[in-house]
Amino acid sequence: MRHAGSTRLLVREKAVEATSVPAALARVFGRYAFLFIVMLTTGVFRPGVTRAEVAESAANSHQPAGIPSWVFPVGPPVAGAATEYDRIKPLRIPHSNVTFTAAQLRDLFAAPDWHPEAHSAMPAVVARGRTPDVYACGYCHTPGGQGRPENASLAGLPAPYIIQQLHDFKSGVRRSAWPGPYRPTDLMIHVAKYATDDEVASAARYFSQQKPKSHVSILERKRVPGAAVVGFVYAAIRGAPEEPLGARLLEFAPDPERHENRDEAMQYVAYAPIGSLRRGRSISSSGANGLTVGCVTCHGANLQGVGLVPRLAGRSPSYLLRQLLAFQTGTRGGPAAQPMVPVVAKLRITNMIDVAAYAASLPP
Ligand code: HEC
Ligand code: HEC
Repeated sequence: MRHAGSTRLLVREKAVEATSVPAALARVFGRYAFLFIVMLTTGVFRPGVTRAEVAESAANSHQPAGIPSWVFPVGPPVAGAATEYDRIKPLRIPHSNVTFTAAQLRDLFAAPDWHPEAHSAMPAVVARGRTPDVYACGYCHTPGGQGRPENASLAGLPAPYIIQQLHDFKSGVRRSAWPGPYRPTDLMIHVAKYATDDEVASAARYFSQQKPKSHVSILERKRVPGAAVVGFVYAAIRGAPEEPLGARLLEFAPDPERHENRDEAMQYVAYAPIGSLRRGRSISSSGANGLTVGCVTCHGANLQGVGLVPRLAGRSPSYLLRQLLAFQTGTRGGPAAQPMVPVVAKLRITNMIDVAAYAASLPP
């Protein structure tokens, strides 16, 4: 696999970053111990605030759990301009008679349609978009709307819900929870800014009519394959030793080449901690003893969506996780998102992993 060595290091660093917070705190405290002692003795820590006031301000202050970088994996960029070879060599995927070249697979104004029989006729905005700013919806979300782990499945979502989300991306009330650049979402926001109401309406109608399928399996594991990031998902490095999963949920492309070739029929594998599905079911059905409100209350008994409340069942667990973080940090915070605000208020990242894994494991 290309660049496997360097990206593996990156993943390693992220794993360390995720597990050694106490160690980092100890280091920082060690470095500034002298300053802390000065502050204590000079009363900087006692500026006349009562204990009750401190407790109250802590309760009011919105302190998100921190955004884990492993939810937003980014691989090395695809090499520069297409070579002659990229323009002529036909590429194939299993179970399809169609071929595309690597250059075609990089064209954001042409959704690679490997399985034309699997969906109805795409409107222009889904198949080709409109140059220079409206990239083809089907390029990222795939022609049948089943989506990829780094974006979102759209098949079967209610058309008015889709339209609302485009408005929210455009107005800025729906952003990524990740504070830095994250190309998939950054490009989505760009599209939303430039797509016309007619384009959005025709895309929404089309995606709402497609039949949703699940293309992820959830595996509970303590250890996971040593991984590199390919595109925006994890892929096992052949022969690399396993690593502890810890409190993470990592979505893998079992065949990274099919992922890079944008094969919408490939099954992804998400590794989640042992017991996630059982705990996730309890959160979903009853809110886990007052931790939150049971998700079934609004998303329906099997999490298949009710009215304008979207389906969660069978969707990419990393997508669901990114959304829960966005609701909690207020980066997805428009009026339509308000019902989710109290739901996520007390959820820790481990709870989010559990419920995302459980929802993803259900049939759509
Ligand atoms: C460059 C890739 C890309 C293109 C092109 C793109 N999207 Fe997206 N879209 C994304 C990503 C990434 C997300 C997830 C954003 C996030 O994490 O909140 C997304 C999210 C969405 C959502 C939210 C889904 C949900 O369940 O809330 C909708 C709706 C959507 N896109 C519709 C469209 C439509 C319609 C088009 C074409 C006009 C389009 N997208 C084009 C990448 C893309
Ligand atoms: C009070 C009703 C309510 C409850 C309870 C609720 N939700 Fe939601 N949820 C919503 C609504 C409404 C939306 C759509 C928000 C929007 O339009 O932006 C939503 C959206 C979501 C999304 C984003 C889906 C997408 O397509 O982007 C996720 C993820 C989610 N909810 C997870 C959960 C989980 C997990 C629980 C249980 C812990 C839960 N919800 C409980 C009302 C609810």
